[in-house]
Amino acid sequence: MKVWAIANQKGGVGKTTTTVSLAGHLAARGHETLLIDLDPHGSLTSYFGFDPDSVENGAYTLYQRHASRVPADPTSLIHPTRFPKLQIMPANMALATLDRQSGKLGGMGLVVAEAVKSLEGRFDYVLLDCPPMLGVLMVNALAACERLIIPVQTEFLAIKGLERMLSTLNMINNSRPLPLDYTIVPTLFDRRTRASIETVRHLQERFASHLWDEVIPVDTRFREASRAGAPLPIMQPNARGSIAYHHLLNYLQAFDSIEQVAAR
Ligand SMILES: Nc1ncnc2c1ncn2[C@@H]1O[C@H](COP(=O)(O)OP(=O)(O)O)[C@@H](O)[C@H]1O
Ligand SMILES: [Mg+2]
Repeated sequence: MKVWAIANQKGGVGKTTTTVSLAGHLAARGHETLLIDLDPHGSLTSYFGFDPDSVENGAYTLYQRHASRVPADPTSLIHPTRFPKLQIMPANMALATLDRQSGKLGGMGLVVAEAVKSLEGRFDYVLLDCPPMLGVLMVNALAACERLIIPVQTEFLAIKGLERMLSTLNMINNSRPLPLDYTIVPTLFDRRTRASIETVRHLQERFASHLWDEVIPVDTRFREASRAGAPLPIMQPNARGSIAYHHLLNYLQAFDSIEQVAAR
């Protein structure tokens, strides 16, 4: 089972779109895939037709059970989507209150990691869609995953969010046995704009060793797919955006096969 977190300390950079699109391709390739919505805004949850304000069992329930020392069996918190091999643990409403309660609840940093570990064998991939700010949920995601995917919007202010994200990663790495590997994914690339081109150049200059060497282009069909509540790669596999995420998934899966060979 592979666990990937999709995070950046900035909103609107394509985190949820990246999560949904990678999941669409993974499911289409026959991998049992679980999505976990760790963003209190619940965009991923809404994407698949659940209402984060009324869905009862979700990611927040993990923390409630942890606090009341109820065994965390996450099975009942996982819901099927209308797509084969694609299931979701939605964000439920009180997720937004976690940071305020964290003093009270204590020792909550590994709640997601433990839940995910208990699902070993049931899923091939678990994708964690993260909130745009540092807090309990981000810390949980970074502790639970073995790869971090950082979507970076190709526009002038993008580097700030990336720098914040990388300093958070540094902090987290102090308490991990091995540093977390990460991949920077340039998103919303528009080759007609100077901002897009210069941002990619800047990323190449400063972050080459962790940068995916392609880009996710602007594709208006992502918005149509979101309206239809379907991953674009399932709805329109030949859309430019779907093809770009297909390449990204190939790239990410290549790391996994290298790791498997190394482990033999
Ligand atoms: N490559 C893209 N082309 C066009 N629109 C995109 C693309 N990626 C994301 N979007 C749109 O941009 C908005 C923000 O994307 P989203 O994935 O929700 O960002 P985040 O999760 O980082 O806040 C959404 O309306 C989404 O449909
Ligand atoms: Mg999002």
